[in-house]
Amino acid sequence: QRSILKDTFGREHTYLRISLTERCNLRCTYCMPADGIPLSPKSHIMTYEEIYTIAKEFAANGVTKIRLTGGEPLVRKDAALIMEKLASLPVELAITTNGVIVDRFIEQFKKCGIHKINVSLDSLDTDKNTFITRRDYFKKVYNNIQLLVKEGFEVKVNCVLMKGFNENEIIDFIELTKEQPLQIRFIEFMPFDGNKWNMEKLVSLEEILKQVYAHYDLKSFIRLNDMPNDTAKNYQIKGYKGTFAVISSVTNPFCDSCNRIRLTANGQLKNCLFSTTESDILTPLREGKSIVAVIEKVVLAKKKTRNGMDTLEKFKDPNSHNNRSMIAIGG
Ligand code: GTP
Ligand code: 5AD
Ligand code: SF4
Repeated sequence: QRSILKDTFGREHTYLRISLTERCNLRCTYCMPADGIPLSPKSHIMTYEEIYTIAKEFAANGVTKIRLTGGEPLVRKDAALIMEKLASLPVELAITTNGVIVDRFIEQFKKCGIHKINVSLDSLDTDKNTFITRRDYFKKVYNNIQLLVKEGFEVKVNCVLMKGFNENEIIDFIELTKEQPLQIRFIEFMPFDGNKWNMEKLVSLEEILKQVYAHYDLKSFIRLNDMPNDTAKNYQIKGYKGTFAVISSVTNPFCDSCNRIRLTANGQLKNCLFSTTESDILTPLREGKSIVAVIEKVVLAKKKTRNGMDTLEKFKDPNSHNNRSMIAIGG
């Protein structure tokens, strides 16, 4: 029997990203507009039982990895309970967080088998962090990253690069990996509703590598093997404890190996980060109808590259970005 998670290009969708909430304790400029986004009414947000039921159906059909996202997943009041429920499924559980309150969840992560934690940090400078997040939590996040490492978690640091803002910190970030077993991931800035994206602000994979080549001896620069379905291209400086990587969704899309499907906090399935149409799975679930049919339809409707924006020209066209704000997708 054919898998309902396989799309028409043969890609098997074994990685489900679940957004737990549209809320966040930060206000990052690349993720949301200054005055926020209209939040879904509470009754439209999935309950923890509904999240569990949908996740269970995905797991039964072949999903092997679930990542919790947001907004900030940990600000949801029943986040701990959700982790516990999902921990009972035969999947690898991971989380992407802004790191502000992770110190309160160390034991819960361990209890739920969550070993991999991705934390956002865009600058090593306090003022720049306050500027980009519109909140003053740099020290807290930085210390929490150290705490996670000390507690033995596999930590990836997500750093969205923007021209004239933090591209002069690339080497400083890489130098963090000299003594710390972190993975620093530089991310090309992507367009979403309300984030004032334009191509000129983007720091590309090519530009990042140019800086790296200029700073390090080429003999000490290692291109690592990427994991299957990895979003990132991975590198290491010889002898360093950690690694670094580049997520180049704009200049070098990795859609050919995409295995991801997204579930928003208000119960909509997105078959691509850039989907402009979504499929309601929550209403059929509440009406007692089959949700497998919805999942199958969403996977089959999937396009090959960035929701059809296969060329950079199409991607640059602001009219083609009729999407949500990142805060309401979860990355
Ligand atoms: P790992 O499971 O550790 O590989 O993490 P991840 O890269 O899948 O997820 P994370 O939440 O840390 O996201 C890091 C960056 O990758 C964010 O900017 C995401 O928007 C981006 N990203 C994650 N999945 C996709 C995807 O399917 N397509 C694109 N274009 N970008 C993605
Ligand atoms: N472009 C690229 N990455 C983004 N993220 C949030 N908004 C954007 C954007 N506009 C990243 C953050 C977070 C991850 C889930 O998505 O770094 O860690
Ligand atoms: Fe998958 Fe869409 Fe991301 Fe491409 S842009 S990797 S198809 S989610």
